[in-house]
Amino acid sequence: MKLQGKSVLVTGGGSGIGLALARRLAGDNKVVIAGRDEARLEQARSQSPSLIARRLDVTSEEDASAAIAWLESELSGLDILVNNAGRFRGYAFDTPTTGERTREDVDVNLVGAARMTRLALPLLSESRGTVVFVSSGVVLAAVPGFAVYAATKAAVHSLARSLRAELKPNGIHVVEVLLPVIDTEAARDLDVPKLPPSAVADAIARGLERDRKEIRVGAIRPLAPLARLSPRLVNHLITRALTPPGPR
Ligand SMILES: NC(=O)c1ccc[n+]([C@@H]2O[C@H](COP(=O)([O-])OP(=O)(O)OC[C@H]3O[C@@H](n4cnc5c(N)ncnc54)[C@H](OP(=O)(O)O)[C@@H]3O)[C@@H](O)[C@H]2O)c1
Repeated sequence: MKLQGKSVLVTGGGSGIGLALARRLAGDNKVVIAGRDEARLEQARSQSPSLIARRLDVTSEEDASAAIAWLESELSGLDILVNNAGRFRGYAFDTPTTGERTREDVDVNLVGAARMTRLALPLLSESRGTVVFVSSGVVLAAVPGFAVYAATKAAVHSLARSLRAELKPNGIHVVEVLLPVIDTEAARDLDVPKLPPSAVADAIARGLERDRKEIRVGAIRPLAPLARLSPRLVNHLITRALTPPGPR
């Protein structure tokens, strides 16, 4: 696809990967960044004035419906929905707060992405548009300490695959982005090698321009085919990528 003159909504666009992608696309497209923290959105907009900011909580049906109606009236439609809003966090499964955290993580990462896609369908059918799901290399592995996070992204991976087939007759393209660890606020406490968000933004833009169905970024590119041949090796490599080195 040609990334020019498109109307784009990036959920979670006020920070990290979403903001980097929004900035990457902003020059040639109308890009809306959406999230809950209005001060953060405003700060991002003041640094990149061509961005358009919109408050949105993807866990709220009412908020999400209002945001889609607003897009229809303000931007006259939508070409690309980027389901980027997400919680990336690890925690031991056996803790008293795990129940509550599980609900929150599923609500944002899976239900939020499904909700935004469902509500945007009329606009995306009209434009024969694209839905992008921001997923993770953890879907290829077993990752102790990130069980719920990995499960939400595995569900997103499955949702993307099924919707790709289901929405094809509507002319809607579904793209999944599989990421390694990226240097954002969400990964601040992970003392491991990370890619900069700008590299992710470039890779996503390139992948969209080349009509890729799956955009595998950085180290995930060789690991995805390898996972089919040697799942144990890929488990080992991905677990190691999320584990800080011990004392030398
Ligand atoms: N960083 C990594 O290593 C990594 C690796 C693989 C995949 N990912 C995925 O990449 C995506 C972006 O993460 P990031 O690393 O850029 O983290 P981030 O900087 O923390 O960004 C997450 C964004 O999601 C928004 N958000 C959270 N809950 C929301 C809600 N209920 N409604 C609307 N927006 C919400 C946040 O904005 P508000 O708080 O203002 O709502 C924030 O802007 C996530 O889906 C994450 O799982 C990250």
